[in-house]
Parts: sequence; structure tokens; C-alpha cells
Amino acid sequence: MSISLPLPPLYLRLSVTDRCNLRCLYCRPDKAEDTLARHPSQLSAEDLLDLVELVNTAVPIYKLRLTGGDPLVRPDLDKFIRKVRKLLPDAEIALTTNGLLLSRQVKALKEAGLDTMNISLDATEFGMFEKISKVNAFDDVLEGILAAKKSGFKSLKLNTVLLRQFNGQSLHELVEFAADLNCELRFIELMPIGVASDYFKSEFLPANEAMELLQPHFGDPIPLGLKGTASRYLFQFRGKKTVVGFITTISEPFCGTCDRLRIDSRGWLFPCLHDYDGLDLLTLCRTAEREQAVRLIQSVHAEKKSPVQEWTSQQMVRIGG
Ligand code: 5AD
Ligand code: SF4
Repeated sequence: MSISLPLPPLYLRLSVTDRCNLRCLYCRPDKAEDTLARHPSQLSAEDLLDLVELVNTAVPIYKLRLTGGDPLVRPDLDKFIRKVRKLLPDAEIALTTNGLLLSRQVKALKEAGLDTMNISLDATEFGMFEKISKVNAFDDVLEGILAAKKSGFKSLKLNTVLLRQFNGQSLHELVEFAADLNCELRFIELMPIGVASDYFKSEFLPANEAMELLQPHFGDPIPLGLKGTASRYLFQFRGKKTVVGFITTISEPFCGTCDRLRIDSRGWLFPCLHDYDGLDLLTLCRTAEREQAVRLIQSVHAEKKSPVQEWTSQQMVRIGG
């Protein structure tokens, strides 16, 4: 007799839009070839809620991260979060944003039930910010970060993608910026996904090299061990202490312990960022094949295993950062 054990709960990353008001060089193609910009996909809040409910019926969600694109380009984001909060009263609801529209929305997002937030920040100076994101928006992002800091989230982190020839020589400034704000900073290794594969050779900077670049500024940091997917260290300088994490997706992959599933901005389910065929969950959801959909989600979650070697050729702006 076979006994089926309950599936462990999962962490769902939901891309709520593939629209974005920045054009980070490692994430979105150039304007001329940006078919996503011409054919944006953004589901209605009802469809998104339906998808979350369906996944949660199949396997309980313990954490939901809203990503994109930039989720804040949806004017209904706070209302959506309010509904998700009711649906998942005990789950952690997290957001990844570029911060550009944050100062206006942060209060409403917090009141709606958002728990934690990661803000992307690849530079602390407007010239470098514009070189990477192609938009002169550094001041707005800064305002967004400061507003978020004031709002008192359970956790507020800054995310920096390591780019050898762009921010590679100014990583220490990002550490100092994060320390001044009393925010944890995470350095993320560049993944050769979509348009980023064109930059990978010249821009990939592994975490151990980033650490060597920081050493002359801060000495040897104290290792704090692994938390989630980040190897964390305590940096100490000029009487300040700050925690910096490294996400070593490429140099030390953590696929073996990953419990995430992803839904892209079209409503397709993916076990991860590697090159799997997605499952059109939205169509299953709409055609009332819910029982079949529940079983499929359970099997995708249960069969998550060491991934195929290739990275997805999808653009990150669609599948979600
Ligand atoms: N490699 C690593 N991280 C990426 N992101 C987007 N594209 C990539 C990539 N190619 C992440 C960044 C950004 C978030 C929205 O998505 O962390 O902050
Ligand atoms: Fe937009 Fe984030 Fe992609 Fe930059 S990395 S283009 S902010 S979705």
C-alpha cells in the first residue's frame, strides 16, 4: 500500500506584469526589438487571484512574492494585495520593485497587508544608475527607498545585480549606502537569461571576486551562514555594522534546496528559471479543468529536481525577477 505524504508548502513567485518603466540592460531588450513592450501581458487582478487560489488549493503557499516587470506600474496593486491577504492570511507577502513609483504607493501597500519588500538598486549615483537602467530616475528611486524605510516593513532589502564593468568598481558605495540606511544588501550574480546572455561574458562577476573587491574597503567580514538563498556576512567599518548577502546562483547553485514555483505574466507555471516547458495554468483555470490543474501543480512541485543545464531564453521582465 502506498501512503502519499502531504507535499511541503511552497514559495510562489508571481509576475503581475511584464511592463516596466526602466530598461535595465540585463533584463529588457533594446527598444527596437522589444516585442514584449509591443505586446505586454498583464492579467486582470481576478485572474491573478484565481491562479493564486488554485496553486494554494494544490499546495499550501507559505510565501508569495509579487514580481514583474515592475509590479507598481499596476495601479490596482494595493487592492490586489488586500485580496491576496484575505486569501492567504498566514503567508508572507513580499514584493520586488525597482522603487520608481514607490514613494506614492508605499503607505497603501503597507496598509493592504504587504509584509516585506526588496528594492532593486544597482548604483548609488545617478550617472551609473542611468547607464544601467537607461532612465534618469535615480532621485525617484531614492525617494521611494526612503519612504519605504520610514514605513516600517518587517524586512526591507536592497538588491544589486553584480555587473563587472558597470557597478563592479563601486560595490563598496552600495555597501556604505545600505549601512547608512540600516538595510540588508544582497549582491546577485548575473544570470544568462534572455537578453542578459549577450552581456554574460563581459559582465558576469562572481561573488568571490566581489568579496575581493570589497576587502580593501572593509577588511574581512564575519560569515553569518546561509539564510534562504543568501550567504550572509557582517561588514564592520567606521563604527557601523551592516549585513550583506551574496546570491550565488551561478558560482554555487542552490537548486537542490529550492522550493519555489513561478507564474509568469501570461499565467504560465514554471518550476524555475531553467529551460522547462511551462504549463498554461490560466487556460486550465478558465476552462474549469481545476482538478486536473491541481494535480498538475502538485506533480510539478513534487517533481522539482536538479534542473536542465540551459537557462531559459524567455526575457526576465516576463518571467519575473
Ligand atoms: N540576472 C540576475 N538578476 C536579474 N534580475 C533581472 N534580470 C536578472 C538577471 N539576468 C533581477 C534583479 C532585479 C530583479 C527585478 O530581477 O534582481 O533586481
Ligand atoms: Fe524593470 Fe526590474 Fe527588469 Fe530593471 S530589472 S527592467 S527594473 S523589471
